[in-house]
Amino acid sequence: MKIAPSVLAADYLRLGESVKAVEAADMLHLDIMDGHFVPNISFGPDIVRALRPQSPLFFDVHLMLTHPRRYLEAFQRAGADGITVHAECADDVAATLQEIREMGMQPGISLKPGTPVESLLPFLPLCGMVLVMTVEPGFGGQRFMAEQTEKLRFLKCAAPGVLLEVDGGINMETAKICRDAGADILVAGTSVFGAPDVSAALRALQAL
Ligand code: DX5
Ligand code: ZN
Repeated sequence: MKIAPSVLAADYLRLGESVKAVEAADMLHLDIMDGHFVPNISFGPDIVRALRPQSPLFFDVHLMLTHPRRYLEAFQRAGADGITVHAECADDVAATLQEIREMGMQPGISLKPGTPVESLLPFLPLCGMVLVMTVEPGFGGQRFMAEQTEKLRFLKCAAPGVLLEVDGGINMETAKICRDAGADILVAGTSVFGAPDVSAALRALQAL
């Protein structure tokens, strides 16, 4: 299984070391929260820029922002390789995805648990990746919503060429559910960075 550890759950006093401990991962997931689109504030492009020289991984930036389009350039300059925006944001989603692609990054779209998967249909041809949320976005360490994996089965047929990423509540048990439902890559925060041996936890998930 491909795994994208989420920096949100890392030790912020030792971010550089934390990122190095997961260099065998498949991507690095960076959760950006504005305190408006979600009821939490995380970090911004300066932290992403500081991490860039510490890791050769694909930087998978998840923008939980009301106005993601305003920040595309800042995250590109900071070293983002892919940018995911939410279907529920206040910007023109199609134009934002197109702009991400024109800027040379991989465009991704995400949806909250309450958003029907059919609402993504007009955007799928514009995306390289779909990020299915299996928790309400905003916080790490929440319980996995298994019923959300139905969206993966739908997307597997509706968008065969698009990468399917799952985010929220991933551990050794829930990862199997996602794998069986057709996920290509799993975001894991607490189960990797909260483990006593971070690289062993990562390897165990990757071995699934
Ligand atoms: C939640 C974030 C997730 C979060 C996952 O809004 O999008 O990426 O870091 O954390 P865990 O793996 O702890 O559920
Ligand atoms: Zn995320």
